[in-house]
Amino acid sequence: MSEHWNVVYSTRSVAERSWSEPVPTVSLELLDVLGVTSEDSVIDIGAGESEFVGHLLLRGFSDLTVLDLADAALDVTRERVGYQNVITVQADVTAWQPTRRYDAWHDRAVLHFLSPIDAQRYATTVRQALAPGGVVVIGVFAPDGPESCSGLPVNRYSAHDLSALLGEEFDIVTQRQVRHHTPWGSEQSFQWIAARRREYAL
Ligand SMILES: C[S@@+](CC[C@H](N)C(=O)[O-])C[C@H]1O[C@@H](n2cnc3c(N)ncnc32)[C@H](O)[C@@H]1O
Repeated sequence: MSEHWNVVYSTRSVAERSWSEPVPTVSLELLDVLGVTSEDSVIDIGAGESEFVGHLLLRGFSDLTVLDLADAALDVTRERVGYQNVITVQADVTAWQPTRRYDAWHDRAVLHFLSPIDAQRYATTVRQALAPGGVVVIGVFAPDGPESCSGLPVNRYSAHDLSALLGEEFDIVTQRQVRHHTPWGSEQSFQWIAARRREYAL
């Protein structure tokens, strides 16, 4: 699967990728709602070439990690933000074994590519990687969103589905249904949630 994404990033320009967005407005807004500050550590799952961590650097964050299957995308991020400023991890999130904990987990447009079994693995990894009291921001295709992306099938999620996937350790703080405008002007329906992990597991 990493080959698929390396080819995508090597052959399609930013303007040819449906998920491109100039400013990660919803992601940043939801971090603010959750009270995430520059003291917190953040991991961006399936970061691709997103400008998300660049915006966090501008806000003074210093403990940032990006994880993606595609080295081609990680190379661009390393060049853009500097090798010293952000830790990059080339990995499949469904097989990745975190070696530390993060205060915030961010995923825009990654979870929906995973099979139901891999989505369960993903949820396990969230619990391994996230500190007690930590937060998650997840944006995926909503039930009325696209049925495929980048030539791959997707699974679509309601806010309830996302809450059920994360489990009872998580309280949903807020949710948003947002229409993303692709670079060529079509619309895609996204479901976002912002959730907090309880300090103590149930
Ligand atoms: C639609 S793009 C979204 C990129 C970025 N989050 C953004 O908002 O611009 C999906 C990204 O997820 C990555 N990806 C897909 N499956 C993955 C997996 N199992 N583990 C890690 N990354 C994955 C792809 O390489 C790609 O960069």
